[in-house]
Amino acid sequence: MSESPAQAPARFAYWVPNVSGGLVTSTIEQRTDWGYDYNRKLAVLAENNGFEYALSQVRYMASYGAEFQHESTSFSLALLLATERLKVIAAVHPGLWHPGVLAKLGATADHLSGGRFAVNVVSGWFKGEFTALGEPWLEHDERYRRAEEFIRALRAIWTEDHAELAGDFYRIRDFSLKPKPLNSPARPHPEIFQGGNSTAARAMAGRVSDWYFSNGKDFDGVTEQIRDVRASAAAAGRPAPRFGLNGFLIARDTEAEAREVLREIIAKADTEAVRGFGAAVQQAGQSTADRTGMWQDSSFEDLVQYNDGFRTGLIGTPEQIAERIVAFKRRGVDLFLLGFLHYLEEVEYFGERVLPLVRELEAREEGHEADAATPAGRAPAAARH
Ligand SMILES: Cc1cc2nc3c(=O)[nH]c(=O)nc-3n(C[C@H](O)[C@H](O)[C@H](O)COP(=O)(O)O)c2cc1C
Repeated sequence: MSESPAQAPARFAYWVPNVSGGLVTSTIEQRTDWGYDYNRKLAVLAENNGFEYALSQVRYMASYGAEFQHESTSFSLALLLATERLKVIAAVHPGLWHPGVLAKLGATADHLSGGRFAVNVVSGWFKGEFTALGEPWLEHDERYRRAEEFIRALRAIWTEDHAELAGDFYRIRDFSLKPKPLNSPARPHPEIFQGGNSTAARAMAGRVSDWYFSNGKDFDGVTEQIRDVRASAAAAGRPAPRFGLNGFLIARDTEAEAREVLREIIAKADTEAVRGFGAAVQQAGQSTADRTGMWQDSSFEDLVQYNDGFRTGLIGTPEQIAERIVAFKRRGVDLFLLGFLHYLEEVEYFGERVLPLVRELEAREEGHEADAATPAGRAPAAARH
């Protein structure tokens, strides 16, 4: 795939640790806490260290190393009220929410936060959660059919008076939400993200989502998904969704230190929890014929960060990580969704040591592009890669 033309500066999000046990399923020390006091401090620190978004996770019950969980929409609202600029994305499951009820919550959260609320629509992987709550667990692609209807309903309710939807999963009849969420030409309603990497997920993203989130991937894995999502959007006659990529970031002063942290995380993996999680998520994607979904080719080591975050390779010195971020950006990644071992310390280290290097590299690339546009100052091809 050809590289993207000049893009906006890379944007950054972090995974809100609203689930206990941290972002890696390992007994290694994690100076991270799932409680509100820690998270409030973290959110303020993050917005002062270059983070534009935070993503709250949704999980309803104890499982695979996550004993306690704060609910995503209420926790997101609390973080919005504790910050000034951070946009907070709440993960939600179609099937457990009615889209009209979530649209109402979203409109209020948007007014309370000055237009900073967003949602991440996730189709779900955890069958036990649905059965414990007495809701049917649909087959994989049916979960996506439901998620697509959910997003269509949400967008219609947020933008139209007399919203209507006669769906297989949801019915909306002459519904007018007042007040609507805040809107501007650039953001007509709260942004709609989606998580999921299967063929069904890519197709849905092109048709209805504003943003597509990928699990951790290398360059080829990202390129392949961006190509499919863009093709789906083109077929639907829509602009392509923007692309977010998960990565577990380990930045240390030397590469050896960073690699040693990764080694220790994996050496101290909670084997039983990682294996249990691996079996559950692979089962959840099994019904897809082509097995393109998240986790379908994940190794034990990959799953120690439960969203394959090591695969993105944001592990090394600030210089190495900055270069890799810019290389992913050239391939079409707009937003980096980051997880950390010791959040407070590492978010600050990121803001002080990694982010300025990313901005420097971006400025240098922009300079090359400007030079390349004028024949006299054409940059050698190698300098642009
Ligand atoms: C960035 C991201 C965040 C996710 N967050 C959650 C979550 O908070 N709760 C959840 O149950 N699933 C979450 N998922 C997983 C999805 O529910 C879904 O199971 C997964 O994406 C597999 O879909 P696929 O088969 O289309 O790849 C997330 C996925 C991604 C990519």
